[in-house]
This record gives sequence, structure tokens and C-alpha cells, in this order.
Amino acid sequence: MLENRTVSTFRSEQVNRTTEGFQREFGSFPEILVRCPARVNLIGEHTDYNDGLVLPMAIPFETLIAASPSGNNMMTITSEGFGSVKFSLEDNPMRTPGWGRFIHGMGSFMSRSQSEPLGWSGYISSTIPSGANLSSSAALEVASGTVFKSLGAMDVNLTEIALLGKRVENELIGVNSGVMDQLACALSQQGNALLLDCLSLDTSPVLIPEGTGVVIMDTGTRRELKSTSYNDRRKDCEVAASALGFSSLRDASMSDLKSLTDALLKRRAHHVVSESERVLKVVRSFAENDSATAGHLFNQSHTSLKEDFAVSSPALDRIVEIAITGPGCFGARMTGGGFAGSAVALVDRDQTNNFCDFVRDNFECPESQPAVTSTRIYPVEASAGVSIL
Ligand code: GLA
Repeated sequence: MLENRTVSTFRSEQVNRTTEGFQREFGSFPEILVRCPARVNLIGEHTDYNDGLVLPMAIPFETLIAASPSGNNMMTITSEGFGSVKFSLEDNPMRTPGWGRFIHGMGSFMSRSQSEPLGWSGYISSTIPSGANLSSSAALEVASGTVFKSLGAMDVNLTEIALLGKRVENELIGVNSGVMDQLACALSQQGNALLLDCLSLDTSPVLIPEGTGVVIMDTGTRRELKSTSYNDRRKDCEVAASALGFSSLRDASMSDLKSLTDALLKRRAHHVVSESERVLKVVRSFAENDSATAGHLFNQSHTSLKEDFAVSSPALDRIVEIAITGPGCFGARMTGGGFAGSAVALVDRDQTNNFCDFVRDNFECPESQPAVTSTRIYPVEASAGVSIL
């Protein structure tokens, strides 16, 4: 994970494993091999479903799918370490449990516009830690959508695939998420973060200053978003927007918030409006090579997510508290939906190893939120969105 060289060696091992897995399962060479990265969100948290701004970055954890058409609507898929599923695209995806539903959902939505059968046999491997708020499910949606598109020669672009991934989350999984994760997995460019306007869906690449590194800190705590208050937060935002007479909080300014009488809704809306402003300020700081200011904004984002939006957790607060005192740290914050999982830090590149050692040596999950897997610290580089290998 540490250097590009390591990452590509790592990928070629994964490519071999996935291709061999396919050959073992299905007795032939796969027709297609698709890779899709995970993402870390640098800033712009809980703003996507408010039509706001976000700044995610694709990272070198990847889901790979090796696949060949089945010639009918049957799907047979094996996932390394997670067993096999078999279903027909004519069945209701709600009948497919577990990880298979993400793929079944993509296939059902995509096959509606298609008269030809779209089924395939596939073998999946993934290095994305699941439940770490690094978008393992979005990567599976975008990877499988790309397999459907390519094997079915479908006229659908990556933004449309990302939007279908969001529909899978909203309609089949029960998480009323926005579209940030899927768009980051689909559209990111190597070496850049991705500024994304969730209203217009416009994107632009953003360079992180050369001397500044990004470090992901996975606390090892886990919680599925559908079992958290994620959907309640979205509801709060919708109620606040409608109380202000707007279709989303994207249209609200700080001075508009004065007219909100409900204190809780005011805090929720304050987070969203201030967070979208912070996204723009971070982009400006990066352009001015000013990582110290970007780091302060990361810290402010964490405080706002903790206090106003109430989506942080004891383990996330603890790791951020430690990280910001670490060598070379410009700032740190929880990343993704929250409640458990990972935080992200901006770090002076020359100090990256010292920083990682410092967090590793000093962090321990609080008793109130124990880890279910080990704490892992990863320096990451920005990688490219989904592609066919
Ligand atoms: C999850 C969701 C995203 C976004 C983030 C919070 O990752 O899938 O759509 O809302 O939480 O920023």
C-alpha cells in the first residue's frame, strides 16, 4: 500500500488470483477483468444527499471481477472468501441475500432496457476492508455495472452506472445515501482527488500539494450504515430544507439558518452549510499549496460532524484526537458515513512513517466501542476510477 511500486505488484498478484479463481470455478479463461477502487472522502461529509459539494479520492484497495457471459439470464458468482451465489436476473433481487444483492440489483436495473440476456459467471476478489467506510459496496456496484455494460455492449456511461449503484443502496439495501461513493469509484483520475458537485454532477480533478500525503486510519470498529441513524440524519436535513422553503440545503446560506426555530435541525443544517463551504476552502488551500489551512478545515469538519451532526463515535473521536498531535499532521477527521470505521489525516509526506508509527503506538479503541478487527494505518495515493484490465 505504501508506494506505487508495491501497489502494482500487489495488483498483479490479485489479477492472477482472480483469473485463476475463475478458471478453477468455470474451467475457462474469463472474457473480461474489471477493477474498481475504493474511496476515501477527504472532506464534504453528509453533503452529497443535500446536493452539496464533496472531495473524495479513489484509493488503491480494489475489487476485481473476472467474468464471461452465461448466454442466458443466469448469474453464478463466487467471491473469494465469501462463498457463492446463483440467481436469475428475472428474479426479484430482494430474494438474493448478502453481497449478491448489490450485483443482482445492478443487473436487474440494467437489464430493464435490454432485450438480450445479460447473465454472466464471475469470480470476485477484493482488498477493500468491508464496513470501514471506504465504499466496498459502491465498488462492487460500479465494478459489476461495468461488467454488465461491457458484456452486454450497453450504451450506458459511468455516471449512469454510478446513479444505478445509488438506486441499489436506496431501493434494495435500505440506505438513503447520496451518490458520492459511486461517482468517486467510477470517475476518479489517477493522482487527483475529485471535486464533485452533487447537484449538477459536474466533476473536476484536484491536485493535493506534492509534499502532502493522505493517511487512512481504520479503527477496526464496524457498523453497517443501515443499522445506524444515517437515514435519520438525511430526514433531518430534508425537514430543515423544507422549513426554510428550499428543495435542499444546497440553497441555504448561514444567514438563512437564523430562521430555523428547532435547535436540533439548526445544528444539522449548520453542519451541512458549513461543510460545503469547507470543501471549497480546502480546494483553494490545495491550489495555494497551503496544507496547514486545509488541515485546520479537516479538524473543523470533524468537530462539526461530532457536535452538530452527531455521526462520529468514541473510537473515531479518539483516533482523530491522537492523530492531530502526531508528527507532521496538518489535520484529521472521520471519513464516510461515520459511527465506526475510518478517519483520514493530511500529513507532511516526509513525516508519513513517523506519523503512522505514532498513531499505531498510541491508539487503542475505547472500551465503549471495541474494535472487531485490527487497527490499520494506510498511507494512500490517489488512484484511477473503474477500468477494464
Ligand atoms: C456514505 C454514503 C455517502 C455519503 C457519506 C457521508 O458513505 O454512502 O453517500 O452520504 O456516507 O458523506
